[in-house]
Amino acid sequence: MRTPIIAGNWKLHMNPEQTIEFVNAVKGKLPDPSKVESVIAAPAVDLYVLKKTAEGSNLHTGAENAYFEVEGAFTGETSPKVLNEMGIDYCIIGHSERRGYFHETDEDINKKAKALFANGVTPIICCGESLETREANKQDEWVVAQIKAALDGLTEEQVSKLVIAYEPIWAIGTGKTASADQAEEMCKTIRETVKDLYNEETAENVRIQYGGSVKPANVKELMSKPDIDGGLVGGASLDPESFLALVNYQD
Ligand code: G3H
Repeated sequence: MRTPIIAGNWKLHMNPEQTIEFVNAVKGKLPDPSKVESVIAAPAVDLYVLKKTAEGSNLHTGAENAYFEVEGAFTGETSPKVLNEMGIDYCIIGHSERRGYFHETDEDINKKAKALFANGVTPIICCGESLETREANKQDEWVVAQIKAALDGLTEEQVSKLVIAYEPIWAIGTGKTASADQAEEMCKTIRETVKDLYNEETAENVRIQYGGSVKPANVKELMSKPDIDGGLVGGASLDPESFLALVNYQD
C-alpha cells in the first residue's frame, strides 16, 4: 500500500518570516503521516527555518532543487549533503521551470537523482509534456523518454522509494487542470514504464503525483484514481487554509 503524498512547491515565494507563520498555522492540523504525507518544498533561503519550525510536527520538508556535487566551486548551488545534514526529507528535481528557464537536461536530472540518493535525500522527479507535444499526441513517448533518462542506473531499492511527479506543462499555473482521467492515464503509463524497466514490485512501490492546478476543489477526484498517489501543488500551497484542505482531502 502506497502512502499518499501531497507536496506544496512554493517556487519563488515566501521569506523566512512568512515560512514560520505558515508552519505555525498548519502544524497541529496535518494528517497522520501514515495516512497522508504532507510536504512543503521551499526556496533554499527558507529551508533552515522551515525545518526548525516544523520539528516535532507531521510536516515533512523539501528543497526545490539541488546540485549533483556536494561541495566545491559551484557558486549559487545547493548541496545534497547539506540538505541531508539539515534533515530535509525530499528534493524536487527536473521541474519544467528548471528544465525550461535554467536549461536542465535529462542527464543533469539523472545525476541529481543519484547525488540525492547517495546523500539520503529522496528525490521528487518531475516530468511532463508541453501543449505542443500533447497536441501532436506525442505525450506518452515524451514522458516515457524523460522517465527512462531520469532513472538510468538507479537501483530497484532507490526507485521503490522515489516520488515521480507528472506535471503537464500546459496545466501549470494556468488554472487548466488535466482531467482526472488524463492524469490517471499518464500516471499509469509511468508506472508501466517502471515495471518494464524494473519489475512489478518496484512499480507498485513508486509513488506518482500529479501536478498542475491542483486545488482543494479537484484534489479528491484526482486522488481517487488508482495510479495517482499524490499532488505536487504550486499556487494552492501558499495559503495555510488551502494547504490544509489539500492534505486533509480524506476528511
Ligand atoms: O510544482 C507545482 C506545479 O508546477 C504546479 O503548479 O499548482 O500552481 O499549477 P500550480
